[in-house]
Amino acid sequence: MKHFIDIADTSADEFIYLLDLADRLKAQHKSGRQHNNLNGKTLAMIFAKSSTRTRISFEVGMKQLGGHAIYLNTQDIQLGRGESVADTAQVLSRFVDAIMIRTFAHQDVLDLAECGSIPVINGLTDLMHPCQALADLMTVREHKGGLRGLKLAYLGDGNNVANSLLQACARVGMDVAVAAPSGYTCDPACIADAKKQAARQGSSVLLTDDPVVAARNADVLYTDTWVSMGQEDEKQARIAVFNAYQVNAAIMAAAKPDAIFLHCLPAYRGLEVTSEVIDGPASVVFDEAENRLHAQKAVLLHLLTGG
Ligand code: CP
Ligand code: NVA
Repeated sequence: MKHFIDIADTSADEFIYLLDLADRLKAQHKSGRQHNNLNGKTLAMIFAKSSTRTRISFEVGMKQLGGHAIYLNTQDIQLGRGESVADTAQVLSRFVDAIMIRTFAHQDVLDLAECGSIPVINGLTDLMHPCQALADLMTVREHKGGLRGLKLAYLGDGNNVANSLLQACARVGMDVAVAAPSGYTCDPACIADAKKQAARQGSSVLLTDDPVVAARNADVLYTDTWVSMGQEDEKQARIAVFNAYQVNAAIMAAAKPDAIFLHCLPAYRGLEVTSEVIDGPASVVFDEAENRLHAQKAVLLHLLTGG
């Protein structure tokens, strides 16, 4: 594994390895033990979109591992004034040890990896959010004691978060169901990858437009905003399209009685989820947010030290 851009590039064993490493790093951190494996290493963090969790967790994560992170907003660096991705990749490769990037076009992340000589981590594109999926399954495993054989239902927009989650669940032998309105389901390549992996693992992938069918007997219910970054102009139309996909008490009742609720955050209460659910006993969204830190430390350690 040279980069962490697309879950499709991560084998099932590698994915489980990262989850195990993330658990160990979390336990070490909680016990107060220091880790200095990334001593002297620098991570450049390029952001073309807003972020709370990704920015903070990568910066704190590098610090906890003995390294250092630099925040680079595309409005401040020459990339935002037309310097090419290729030149930016080559220049950063001379200064830092790895790049984390959050941007719009997924191709820009692939180009950065292709043109540079250092590991690249996808901190979210319009297409994927692999770091989120890793932290999500870490959280599910913590709360459910395992992953294989569990059912996760994702309701709403088949967006970047859904695409990576679909790929991740299929790899670890979870049954995954995505309920999205027609025209808003997941990316075809991500669906194909998930189906291939699920066939290998003996698990299932279900794509439907019926939220109740997806949620039935689920161990995990998941949703994300109906209006992703860059789609602000479509807000009103999207709210109308996704209205029937809200995660509320009625849909939670279709899932297993001990089902947990996940959301990558930021959340919009009263739209994709009710306060009753996200602020209720089934919700583990803040554990999930916390786990971004440890999951990404695992990615950083693995990419930068092979550990
Ligand atoms: N979930 C997530 O990536 O959050 P941020 O947009 O705050 O980084
Ligand atoms: N789908 C959301 C995720 C935010 C973390 C977006 O792209 O805005």
